[in-house]
Amino acid sequence: MIQKNARILVADDEEIVLSTVKTVLKGSGYQVETVSSGTAALERLTSGDFDLFLVDLTLPDIGGIELLATLKEQGILTETIIFTGRASVASAVEAMKKGAYDYLAKPIEADRLRMTILKAIEHYHLVISNKQLKRQLQTLTHYDEIIGQSNEMLNIYRMIEVVANTTANVVITGESGTGKELVARAIHRKGNRSEGPFVAINCSAFPLEILENELFGHEQGAFTGALKEKPGCFELADKGTLFLDEICEMPIETQAKILRALEERRFRRLGGKKEVEVDVRVISASNVKLEKAVEEKRLREDIYYRLSVVEIELPPLRERPGDINLLVQEFLSLFSHKNNKTVARLAPEVIDMLHWHSWPGNVRELRNAIERAVVLCDSDTVHIKDLPPRVINPNGGMIDVQIPLGSKLEFAEKEMIFHTLEYTKNNKTRAAKTLGISLKTLHNKLNHYKRNGVMPVDM
Ligand SMILES: Nc1ncnc2c1ncn2[C@@H]1O[C@H](COP(=O)(O)OP(=O)(O)OP(=O)(O)O)[C@@H](O)[C@H]1O
Ligand SMILES: [Mg+2]
Repeated sequence: MIQKNARILVADDEEIVLSTVKTVLKGSGYQVETVSSGTAALERLTSGDFDLFLVDLTLPDIGGIELLATLKEQGILTETIIFTGRASVASAVEAMKKGAYDYLAKPIEADRLRMTILKAIEHYHLVISNKQLKRQLQTLTHYDEIIGQSNEMLNIYRMIEVVANTTANVVITGESGTGKELVARAIHRKGNRSEGPFVAINCSAFPLEILENELFGHEQGAFTGALKEKPGCFELADKGTLFLDEICEMPIETQAKILRALEERRFRRLGGKKEVEVDVRVISASNVKLEKAVEEKRLREDIYYRLSVVEIELPPLRERPGDINLLVQEFLSLFSHKNNKTVARLAPEVIDMLHWHSWPGNVRELRNAIERAVVLCDSDTVHIKDLPPRVINPNGGMIDVQIPLGSKLEFAEKEMIFHTLEYTKNNKTRAAKTLGISLKTLHNKLNHYKRNGVMPVDM
């Protein structure tokens, strides 16, 4: 299919070539411009938006290959096709190695020209959309309902984009509050099952019988009290996504049943005789690593392989401090709006405190802290008094460092450094920040202690 708006620039020093090519291409519905020198071509290409550049290998000023090199250097993606006289086919092949899309030998046949151009423009659009996707993801601060701009989160967005349109079962791991359910929903919404249902079930929330009843449903009279038939999550999620939350908490017996249902894509309701066919994509989540649960015999190895075709591991918030400010801003405006308030800022010491805290409850904890702060706040700025006590005083009080009077300054410094590292759980970036020194200085000092054999903790 011809891309109607495709723009083509043709550069040749022979007027007859220019006019012939122009007539053919205009006849095919393209927008065509012509120039007769390399300099003019370069000028047009750097200012204009051309899909395709047709250029003679030899021009009086700048030749085709040199032009091609300049385009690549400047990051101009316009696809290039080289015209060549019969004698210079070898150089045209050379040009292709340097990134030209193809070459056409003169005299140019109209049909060949049309075919080659069609393919080159298609290729150009493919390259452009790939680039755009990459760029779009690279500058994202939000993806679906997920907020985050750190490299770690951008990688997660890419993973979601890749798996969304497949049927591969995905397992999402990460500490509590890192956004596992948000990611599961994003995969569902971005994929080709988005029109189907998203059914979530928390496997740790029910004892075995009730869990199986929830998963597989039952027929009327299956057990005392089963007055009506009831479809389970598997059936409800047909043509959509089934989200099995806290998968490692599922009883081993139920795991065997789930495995069978997944492998055979059919199952029986409790008390049922007939098999129900289903087409579900399973996304599961766990806040313990699945390998560990397998080792501990809490998760069957076969179900582990079945469920974790792709594993997405969400990093804890403390490992992506770059996301804290962004999340805070988003939550401030969300909760200001909800509470009819205009809390827009944080006092500088509050910002420090938020970066200092290790956020064991991850984004959920941060979200709750900001909600609370907005509710309690009596001006447009959040102050320390508005923060939850555990954020202000994470370990129930700062660690006291005792340095006997009469100690050498060097000893005092060493004590401060080691205790701070202990407090930051060996997180050197945070320790350096707390101590008010650069990370490099901290490393230098630690190396110095190492050389002198005074390293108390394994650092
Ligand atoms: N990156 C994020 N952007 C915005 N909100 C987030 C993000 N991560 C988590 N949240 C919010 O934090 C809360 C917890 O998220 P979610 O339920 O997805 O976490 P989880 O990993 O499933 O936690 P748990 O293991 O405790 O079930 C939700 O309110 C969610 O909206
Ligand atoms: Mg969850």
